[in-house]
Amino acid sequence: MAYDFISAADAAEMIQNGNTLGLSGFTAPGNPKSITEALAAKAVREHEKGNEFKVNIFTGASTNDHIDGILSRNNVVNMRAPYQNTPDLRKRINAHDAHYFDRHLSEMAQEFRYGFYGDVDFALIEAADIDENGEVLLGCGIGNIPSYAPRAKKIFIELNEALPKSLMGMHDVYVPNDPPYRREIPIYSPRDRAGRPTLKIDKSKVVGIVRTNSLDGVKAFTAPDETSNRIGANVVDFLITEYRRGRIPKEFLPLQSGVGNVANAVLHYLSLDKELPNFMMYTEVVQDSVLELLRLGKCSFASTCSMTFSDKVESELFSDMNYFHDKIVMRPSEISNNPEVIRRLGVIAMNTALEADIFGNVNSSHVLGQKMMNGIGGSGDFARNGYISIFSCPSVTKSGLISNIVPHVGHVDHSEHSVDVIITDQGIADLRGKDPVQRAETIIDNCANPMYRELLHDYLRLGINGAGGQTPITHRAAFAFHSAFSETGDMRNVDFSKYC
Ligand code: COA
Repeated sequence: MAYDFISAADAAEMIQNGNTLGLSGFTAPGNPKSITEALAAKAVREHEKGNEFKVNIFTGASTNDHIDGILSRNNVVNMRAPYQNTPDLRKRINAHDAHYFDRHLSEMAQEFRYGFYGDVDFALIEAADIDENGEVLLGCGIGNIPSYAPRAKKIFIELNEALPKSLMGMHDVYVPNDPPYRREIPIYSPRDRAGRPTLKIDKSKVVGIVRTNSLDGVKAFTAPDETSNRIGANVVDFLITEYRRGRIPKEFLPLQSGVGNVANAVLHYLSLDKELPNFMMYTEVVQDSVLELLRLGKCSFASTCSMTFSDKVESELFSDMNYFHDKIVMRPSEISNNPEVIRRLGVIAMNTALEADIFGNVNSSHVLGQKMMNGIGGSGDFARNGYISIFSCPSVTKSGLISNIVPHVGHVDHSEHSVDVIITDQGIADLRGKDPVQRAETIIDNCANPMYRELLHDYLRLGINGAGGQTPITHRAAFAFHSAFSETGDMRNVDFSKYC
């Protein structure tokens, strides 16, 4: 069967108001790049005619400006899940112009298969290649497409000619059986493969192929600032101490690392360390620094869902595929973030917090507990199941107007029961084996910025001398930092004596 080649505008014409789209990819890589832009143009025309035009968009994780950016600016997003990180969409979500639910990224695919979210009208799949049997060679990120495509009524392929065919063999597409027939996922080392190198789709559903030709458009990182460097150095310090004490096996354990400057700094410091052995990664994204670590041999293998490389580094990868081909494997997010595999491999989880409270609860997603920033992403998958779960953040934000260590987080993504270690530029709070008050003292003394330490101790004393209890929170003062910031623009304007 020959496929029809169509334009992005032709594809967009077939998509109707209220449709649900399931997109390939995870972060920018692997995302379709042209049909959603044409869809935004169609929506503008429909809105000008006074017609409602919005669609539901399900992805692997965050996307890029071709999707969340342009569709949000033009108010085309009805429902969105499971993760985003675009300023335009964030604005729509917080203004209730777009609905959004953020889910643990490992769970979305199976929940789709369970039928929790209905069917997909169109799957949009970026491909490096497709053959006459419907075997699709995916791009540089997989996401949830192996579960969206079978539930899709129709499929569009975006055939990206910038992607080399030598990507063949770098994907491991595995979809577990659903309960009650699920068996263990046969991954016992980050290098293991459980699935197939291509995604098999029902070719009769393919209504058209759109040609594209562009890299993934990921921006290069700015150099880490002093605070990120200090956090990075503290994380590596912690890992080395654990290793020396024999609490991490001599072979070391696979690392998961979030994205961003801190993650970049951590990987940079790991690459400088001579004492730690070479390590592997079992993670959801690898960014520029990982390609360098693979080149140096410090990282010997990386299992990921997406190769989130900047265009420059993506080009370097493509021009040296012989070297990197057997050092990276891409998996669906259901597998890259799978709790069973993370627990089995003993992955060391390193994620970022917006704020943490003195008892060890972490908020990664809601600014002041109210406004959605990005979402929980994969942090919960790794934090809850990791061998050690580390959260890091700067001790203060906005030049000290905000303390990232607070009496009580405004929103709980990761509870005290899942958080083992908190690390800031000030130091390391190892929470393992400590009760709530011991945790509070450690976090305040080791991680809070000196300009907030006394205030936080005041709050802790208020609880101990007041209502007491194992976790001595003071209800009426728990959000005093947040209220002070909302009312005065500075969390330091708190006076706990008025609560005595
Ligand atoms: N209160 C209010 N604002 C805060 C804040 C706080 N406690 N902490 C940070 N911010 C603001 C910063 O000032 C910055 O604002 P700006 O954009 O106006 O400069 C913004 O939030 C981002 O802060 P930054 O320190 O640059 O964070 P980051 O880029 O390292 O991202 C998270 C931190 C938590 C937002 C990000 O890691 C995330 O979304 N995590 C959840 C998903 C996840 O962990 N995925 C798994 C691994 S990929």
